[in-house]
Amino acid sequence: MEKRKLTKEDIDKVRHIEGFPIAKDEDIIALSNPPYYTACPNPFMEEFIREHGTPYDEATDDYHCEPFAADVSEGKNDPIYNAHSYHTKVPHKAIMRYILHYTKPGDIVFDGFCGTGMTGVAAQMCGNPDSAFKMQIEKEMPNVVWGARKAILSDLSPAATFIAYNYNTPVDVEAFQIEAERILAEVEKECGWMYETQHVINGKVQTSIDGKPVMGRINYTVWSDVFICPTCSNEMVFWDVAVDKENGKVRDIFTCPHCRSELKKTGCKRAQETHIDTKLNDTVTMAKQVPVLINYSVGKKRYEKTPDEYDLTLIEKIDSMEIPYWYPANELPNGYNTEQPKRSHGVKHVHQFYTRRNLVVLAALWKKSHINRQKAALSLVLTGILQISSKQSAFRYDSRNPKNTAGGILKGTLYIPSIQREGSIFENFERRLSAIISLVIGINKFEKGAVLIQTASASRKKTEKNSIDYIFTDPPFGGNLNYSELSFLWEAWLKVVTNPTPEAIMNTVQGKGLPEYQALMTQCFNEYYRVLKPGRWMTVEFHNSQNAVWNAIQEALQRSGFIIADVRTLDKQQSSFKQVTTTSAVKQDLVISAYKPKDSFKREFTANAGSEETAWMFVRQHMENLPVAVIKNDQVEILAERQAFLLFDRMVAYHIMNGIPVPIDSGDFYKGLDDRFLDRDGMYFLSDQVNEYDTARIKNDVEDIQFELFVTNEKSAIAWLYQQLRIKSQTYQDLQPQFMQEVKTVDKFEAMPELSVLLEENFLQNENGKWYIPDVTKASDVAKLREKKLIKEFEGYLEGKGKLKAFRTEAIRAGFAKLWTEQKYKLIVDTAERLPESVIAEDDKLLMYVDLSSGRV
Ligand SMILES: C[S@@+](CC[C@H](N)C(=O)[O-])C[C@H]1O[C@@H](n2cnc3c(N)ncnc32)[C@H](O)[C@@H]1O
Repeated sequence: MEKRKLTKEDIDKVRHIEGFPIAKDEDIIALSNPPYYTACPNPFMEEFIREHGTPYDEATDDYHCEPFAADVSEGKNDPIYNAHSYHTKVPHKAIMRYILHYTKPGDIVFDGFCGTGMTGVAAQMCGNPDSAFKMQIEKEMPNVVWGARKAILSDLSPAATFIAYNYNTPVDVEAFQIEAERILAEVEKECGWMYETQHVINGKVQTSIDGKPVMGRINYTVWSDVFICPTCSNEMVFWDVAVDKENGKVRDIFTCPHCRSELKKTGCKRAQETHIDTKLNDTVTMAKQVPVLINYSVGKKRYEKTPDEYDLTLIEKIDSMEIPYWYPANELPNGYNTEQPKRSHGVKHVHQFYTRRNLVVLAALWKKSHINRQKAALSLVLTGILQISSKQSAFRYDSRNPKNTAGGILKGTLYIPSIQREGSIFENFERRLSAIISLVIGINKFEKGAVLIQTASASRKKTEKNSIDYIFTDPPFGGNLNYSELSFLWEAWLKVVTNPTPEAIMNTVQGKGLPEYQALMTQCFNEYYRVLKPGRWMTVEFHNSQNAVWNAIQEALQRSGFIIADVRTLDKQQSSFKQVTTTSAVKQDLVISAYKPKDSFKREFTANAGSEETAWMFVRQHMENLPVAVIKNDQVEILAERQAFLLFDRMVAYHIMNGIPVPIDSGDFYKGLDDRFLDRDGMYFLSDQVNEYDTARIKNDVEDIQFELFVTNEKSAIAWLYQQLRIKSQTYQDLQPQFMQEVKTVDKFEAMPELSVLLEENFLQNENGKWYIPDVTKASDVAKLREKKLIKEFEGYLEGKGKLKAFRTEAIRAGFAKLWTEQKYKLIVDTAERLPESVIAEDDKLLMYVDLSSGRV
């Protein structure tokens, strides 16, 4: 595309789009570099697709790929990855494996929650891998085809897209370095005196031969909060009373130096100070803080001193000076994380996060670092130090190590500690500069214009349908991180701020709970579904910490039409991927592979609604997209997705999500599976797949899969019994002691049946009294009988009134499925109201029935 201007008219055309940021038009224009980067919805996206996309035609499309899982944390030591921090990040090297697996050179990859744009870096790096990584990948993926892919990146946050833009756009390394050093020298000349201190040894100021004091250069100053003793009302410097300097620890309990009372920090109030803020034109009251330690260098040697008269006068002088440059003074929005600094230190505006000294120097550097490409990279050096240069940076004893650049920011919060480290901006800048130089060298070979970036909600209607070849995405996970609040400091400096309305998070202040989060995620996935080419894949990665949120994501995915084909988590000990089949207790990184079914399938599926054929159409299409033989450590992996129970679950969910009646019950489904498809090791295959499996089977053993199970309810108890009985048939007496050991705690509301009932309802017993798993000929009868019992139990619940306190969740599941077929949606909703909310949120099936029924009611 040609170089463009972003005009006010262009902006007018996209102003109505979800996620349009909060900013003046001129600031959006100043931050953007059109056509490839805009700090608002990108008006040039269609053109990008027209230029780089390949049209989709089902008749000629022969794309086929199996789902893939790789370690999403690999590559965290990479200098490119580490050049600029963000609240969470997926390393580009991890994403490269996915892109190489699913796409070919020139394809378009999309990420709508792009954050720092690692998906774009990965897409481009496929054309420029470093040699060690290249060798490693070629070993793992013998058929790999190298070559850069194109990418479209989108994020709601202007800070994120600004970082992403810098990560993805090549720059003249030499010119950048010269410019950065020039600016640094200029500002040092102007403001260097602010970080000077007199060199003092044993209380004596050192002098040079000409009698002048030897001056040191401050590396950092430690500041301490001042508290008021609740007993005697005297002030105490926290550093003096609570820090054990010898052992480098903060004491929980300390003594008031005035009245000897034993105190805890939580029992004391902070002393406050009032001053006139000339920027706000108002009197401001904030927590009182005093400098307590200075770490400085003379030549290459580092020293420490207690601030003396000279230092205090210097700080006073800076505090009373006017700042001749612009700096942000935005008021912090109401929020979940923004309340903490307001409450603790009276920090209500962005500039109050900085000492006056650091604010002056940052403002001077900022002024000189805008806005052409070189200068955007300079601003990146500055955004890279905005957090560590703020009062968020805690002094820790390990931050004395000059090599420690991490600082003590409490990630994921805006927490201001009681003992702060005011790092010199010059030192912070120099360090970040060398990191950003590594970045610009690393991306030097990127082609200009290979990546298009915009600032908008992932739910934005972007472009033509069926235009994207692959999606890799790492969405926000529930309420873990409040991105718009955490990025507020960055965005205030950039003068373009996130529009939080479509932000897909759970946040009480924004009035967003789990249902709102799920609805926002569904909107985003709907759009993902629309733009992805049929038969193509999406990888969704996230760190799971709450099952209810994971269920909300699954539900959102399925509602938008995606079919989940594989869910895995990394087994850190074995560094291999484990399949995840139960939703319970997976508090780790999950990789979900989902595909968009072909149009012809969707057409036929809808046309056949009401006949049993839809179930088999679904199974056929699903099997086509599942791996055939996965070999790990010379063992063929048993794939849960090919087992009857999961095929049944997926089939049911797909029908329900598409508003089509489920045409068959589990018993008939199992029988039908056996008649129509080929069974190997308890998995089902299409006839043209079975040879491949058999060949793999001859060469390798079959893995004995043992899913990690926590038996806390009937469902997991049955799964556990299946695992035991798959190994060998066993008597009640064999099973009982192990079972008792397995079941340590039962879910709060679960009426867990006795072991004997579980066995009778799900398994068969031979003449020796041993229980075994029914074979296909009998499985259907067993399933039918069990369902009858569960329904009876459920009908018992329906007869009662008021909240249900103990129940069999399996009976609720069976009951809801039955009510759904009978179209008794209101009864589902009413019954759900009698159940604890957590039970619905924690169970993907119940959630599906209740959610969809609520819509219909
Ligand atoms: C987990 S982070 C992605 C981090 C990214 N993978 C990286 O490596 O930097 C999730 C991102 O989703 C963004 N976000 C939240 N709601 C959004 C929405 N509705 N549309 C687009 N982006 C959104 C946040 O701003 C955040 O950057």
